[in-house]
Amino acid sequence: MKKTKILMVCLGNICRSPLAEGILRQKLDPKRFSVHSAGTGGWHVGDPPDQRSIDIASQKGLDISNQKAQQFKLEFFDEFDLIYAMDQSNFNDLQSLARNSVDQEKLHLLLDALFPGEDADVPDPYYGGPSGFVNIYDLIDRACEVISSQL
Ligand code: 4NP
Repeated sequence: MKKTKILMVCLGNICRSPLAEGILRQKLDPKRFSVHSAGTGGWHVGDPPDQRSIDIASQKGLDISNQKAQQFKLEFFDEFDLIYAMDQSNFNDLQSLARNSVDQEKLHLLLDALFPGEDADVPDPYYGGPSGFVNIYDLIDRACEVISSQL
């Protein structure tokens, strides 16, 4: 059977979506699902996750240090079955790239799983301190728990 392919998307693909990739992957059966991530921006292509994301993941027993940032490409709409944006701005950027209704229907806001209809964002932690990373880990983990239980 073909695996369901899931893509987590944020702006830089170094803080939030690498955590989302690692967290959701850990909750799903690898024989049935594959989880990847990308950024709408290209500034960090090829970089490992931000050290603060690596650190909070490591404190939770998750190793995300081998990930490499990539920029979202149009063909990802063909490759992936489900695409989760970390915030409304990422969602709007992806929506403006969508070529048709099939692409559009693949797009979801991650925290809709946790707070349906509230349009809640995983806040961008890049310019903040380490506590922002504790907060986003918790939000992403809770949302991924709901998503994994529904898949
Ligand atoms: P991310 O955080 O979207 O969660 O990976 C950011 C990382 C880098 C930048 C912005 C947000 N940046 O402007 O370089």
